Amino acid sequence: MKIGIDKIGFYTPHLYVDMNKLAVERNVEPEKFTIGIGQEKMAIPPITQDSVTLAANAALEILDDNDKEQIDFVIFGTESGIDHSKSAGVYVHELLDINPYARSIEVKQACYGATAAIQMAKGHIALHPTSKVLVLGSDIARYGLNTGGEATQGAGAVAMLISADPKVMVLEDKTAYLTKDIMDFWRPVYSDKAFVDGKFSNEQYIAFFQQVWERYKKQTGLGLSDFEAICYHLPYTKMGLKALRTVLDETTEEVQERLTTNYKVSTTYNRNVGNIYTGSLYLSLLSLLELKEDLPEGSRIGLYSYGSGAVGELFSGILQPNYREHLYVERHKQLFDDRTEVTVAEYEEIFQHTLPTDGSNIELDIGKDPAAICVSGITEHMRQYVNKHR
Ligand code: COA
Repeated sequence: MKIGIDKIGFYTPHLYVDMNKLAVERNVEPEKFTIGIGQEKMAIPPITQDSVTLAANAALEILDDNDKEQIDFVIFGTESGIDHSKSAGVYVHELLDINPYARSIEVKQACYGATAAIQMAKGHIALHPTSKVLVLGSDIARYGLNTGGEATQGAGAVAMLISADPKVMVLEDKTAYLTKDIMDFWRPVYSDKAFVDGKFSNEQYIAFFQQVWERYKKQTGLGLSDFEAICYHLPYTKMGLKALRTVLDETTEEVQERLTTNYKVSTTYNRNVGNIYTGSLYLSLLSLLELKEDLPEGSRIGLYSYGSGAVGELFSGILQPNYREHLYVERHKQLFDDRTEVTVAEYEEIFQHTLPTDGSNIELDIGKDPAAICVSGITEHMRQYVNKHR
């Protein structure tokens, strides 16, 4: 049975900061951020967006009434969940009016969560071929003002509808994965900001890539020339390139050029959004599919997922006939075009304006947020959500 991505949507908040201007304020050469790290703009979430609303906004644009009837599983991958007990999937299920006869859960393994969700969805559909699974990868990447990780923050979500006979990409069954207990990036339950050993994390990302790539090649007999492109989890856009470069000498100059050119296209959206953790790999896939207009149908795309802590996986998909007709290129262009730049001072203010954690109630002005789905406040410890389309 062919199972894979039937639809893929994306959402990022309407505010961003320019990395050149952030560099100037931090007394750093702008080229460090734009070339050394590879980021141009960083999405800034207003207080009225959280991981639930980002995901719901991403899914809202792709689901029609039939999908909402047929979805029987919502799997929400995140590492910026809003509750230790209740899953973010349940909130999204309600906000999108998905039929009640569905399972809704949240999965966690740092940036790997959405990949785990996809693999779970594949297994579910293999048993129940008529079902559709909504997979969400949604996060707000927060390291803190003036920290080493600050330039690699961001916010956004990717929503994917996984089904049999998918219109965009069939996911192949052979996949190579690896787990090792390491402390390269983590967020203790008492902290709203992540801790990261940046250099170690970079090293491990590459080491994991090399190991799963070797294993994938042994399992499949495939090599670099069998790929039109390889998309990477992108905490920042230079990261995947560092991993790709370590294997490029395995192939011809022509293939090297193709993979490097396509890598660049696959990083365009991420370069303008920043890190969105669980959704980053899929934002990169979306960037490639939507911006590289001549990617041949039937071609194989590699996907490297990495979630600190750590789990890595290399898998692949085959582009389906007429896949471009099932993308939302114009809508995503509009989303980027409609964004508003904020100054560094405004970003700092927004960053520090967080929801209360002392149990008090708050009512938020959602009029300033153009998103359809927003957090409107907290009442008696319960986050309140509004879908303006209802
Ligand atoms: N022009 C061009 N490049 C420049 C430059 C300039 N003026 N100044 C510095 N650079 C380059 C450096 O050479 C380096 O490139 P390299 O990595 O290819 O060697 C890059 O910019 C970053 O510089 P570095 O000094 O290493 O930056 P840093 O100490 O501030 O750390 C990160 C950068 C990415 C490690 C840090 O932001 C971080 O920890 N981010 C979080 C990482 C993460 O998300 N990990 C988890 C998931 S995988």
